[in-house]
Amino acid sequence: MALNELKSVTAGQETLPAVSIGQWRHKHVLDLDDFSREEINLIFEITDAMVEVLSRDVKKVPTLRGKTIATMFYEPSTRTRASFELAAKYLGADTVSLDAAKSSVAKGESLVDSLRTLQALEVDAIIMRHPCSGAPYIAAQNLEISIINAGDGCHAHPSQGLLDLYTMKKHLKDLGGKKVVLVGDIMHSRVARSNIWGSRGFGVKLILCAPPTLIPHGLKQMLVECGLDHVAIEHNLDKAIEHADIVMPLRLQKERQQSGLISSIRTYIRQYQVNSERLERANPGVLIMHPGPMNEGIEISHEVAYSSRSLIEQQVTYGVAVRMALLYLIAGGKNR
Ligand code: CP
Repeated sequence: MALNELKSVTAGQETLPAVSIGQWRHKHVLDLDDFSREEINLIFEITDAMVEVLSRDVKKVPTLRGKTIATMFYEPSTRTRASFELAAKYLGADTVSLDAAKSSVAKGESLVDSLRTLQALEVDAIIMRHPCSGAPYIAAQNLEISIINAGDGCHAHPSQGLLDLYTMKKHLKDLGGKKVVLVGDIMHSRVARSNIWGSRGFGVKLILCAPPTLIPHGLKQMLVECGLDHVAIEHNLDKAIEHADIVMPLRLQKERQQSGLISSIRTYIRQYQVNSERLERANPGVLIMHPGPMNEGIEISHEVAYSSRSLIEQQVTYGVAVRMALLYLIAGGKNR
């Protein structure tokens, strides 16, 4: 059943606004490297419809009624897990949420066995987070049902990349020629990697700013080989931030730091913290984003995080709508 057909089947506020889904071809959402600009725009068109649903007094439509969505998190999460669960519930699906530490994983069950158990329980899709890069790909290879990557190691976080891009588009409208600066721990950031792929083809100039030790070895060459010519690397934040339209500090991932990558937190703060003084070099209307969770006082000052320029809470709110759109496209498939 397509979204526009739903409109005629259910009455009034129970429906979604009509959107044509075109030729959706993805069974899984593992990263954004295999998503075209047109496909991302389709997700955003559906996200607009979901934003409308979320503005209603009763934030619920029956689109995924009868479906079950499972979340399986092998790493902590606040935003991603809560927003996927809310997204599924707002679409009328049932949810089952597993925390790996409290599941049979703690008894030694393998990744594939755990996920196959969820499949045998007849869930329709699994949203998974795992500390190992590539884990969702192993899941996708071994299961029949859809897998949505909610973050794998340092590799990818596609729904975060999408909600970041959606937030940018909503606030800047045309992204053509806009300067977006990602600053901080690029080395360990799955968010940065998904932002690189997601923003391809939208006309933004994406600057990755970090000390040389927090830029992955070989990144420059990889950008050239993959034709990602909208991305540049800059080590000096004062230079990177000049005329920026959006600045997005990334969390310094203390849990993934190998010793010696930064000389000291104090030096890092001095050279790379996004604060009011530094933002004076940016465009006057510069906006601040952060994927969260934040280390306030390290990569971002408290004052900037809670300033009127900050879109950080808006990102979280849009995150629910983006994830509703993904669930609709992935788990609604059998209904269409
Ligand atoms: N941005 C993000 O992935 O946040 P959580 O770890 O809280 O899900």
